[in-house]
Amino acid sequence: MTRTDAAPLTAGGLMAEGTALLKAAGVGESALNCGWLLASALRADRLSLLADRGRAVTASEASAFRKFLARKASGEPLAYIIGSQPFCGLTVKVDPRVLVPRPETEELVDLALDFIRGYAPGSSGPVHVLDFGTGSGAIALALAAGCRSALVTAADKSREALDCAEGNARDLGSAGRIRFVEASEVKDCGGPFDLIVTNPPYIPSGVIPGLDMEVRSEPLLALDGGPDGLGVAARIIEQAPEAVKKGGALFMEIGDTQARAVSGMPDRRRWKVSVLKDLCGKSRFLRAVRK
Ligand SMILES: C[S@@+](CC[C@H](N)C(=O)[O-])C[C@H]1O[C@@H](n2cnc3c(N)ncnc32)[C@H](O)[C@@H]1O
Repeated sequence: MTRTDAAPLTAGGLMAEGTALLKAAGVGESALNCGWLLASALRADRLSLLADRGRAVTASEASAFRKFLARKASGEPLAYIIGSQPFCGLTVKVDPRVLVPRPETEELVDLALDFIRGYAPGSSGPVHVLDFGTGSGAIALALAAGCRSALVTAADKSREALDCAEGNARDLGSAGRIRFVEASEVKDCGGPFDLIVTNPPYIPSGVIPGLDMEVRSEPLLALDGGPDGLGVAARIIEQAPEAVKKGGALFMEIGDTQARAVSGMPDRRRWKVSVLKDLCGKSRFLRAVRK
């Protein structure tokens, strides 16, 4: 190498460069984010890269990585840049048409699967489930994967979100057990269902302008629950008595300050209601079993 040659590009060198750049831009967990971006740019396994810091990187790989870094530094969600998000052991493709599925929603799926296991013991028929507000299809896909007898209706008001969800179902081999419906009301989704599982938009409209840039990059329709955050939740609960079979249930993710308001909505003559906490100890899920 002559004195004028640039130092060879290596995975370790780009990791150091990228981590410093993200840190300077105020991105939290800068090394972790950088590792994901580098792995994606190099189409390599993230953990193997950590162990192979001397791995040579081509100029075009480095250029792709630096473009990813710039997007992350400007506040774009990691999952949109790399194009996917892990969810309940599945790789779910995501882009700005849909909300990035969150870890607490994995807990909602676990609660629903637990309920299905204890539901109608001895019955061998299909369990009809509605995922209302399916977005990327994460809940519908995880329920179909976790329960062989589940037949899932995945509904969303957004045609664009449904296109994303349908693509995920094809990629993950679940298309035959998920029916996609463009609808903005539970009553227009068919049914009755054994189970409704839903993560509706629940952020109050006035709070949204103050959220992080990353969250504000997600579709407004996926976030905005109206003036008190409870507009869509209230409509679902209002229509659920006709949509859920006796003995079936409604599982809904809610904001951590909404438990009192949401748990007061179902008619106690028709529902047995409880609020369940997430792994952080926050009241996060409504569970209403149809009497
Ligand atoms: C919080 S996101 C949840 C997405 C996905 N289920 C998840 O958990 O990652 C809410 C979804 O509900 C959809 N949505 C909002 N209002 C709706 C309505 N009135 N009817 C049907 N879907 C609606 C949005 O388009 C968005 O995809």
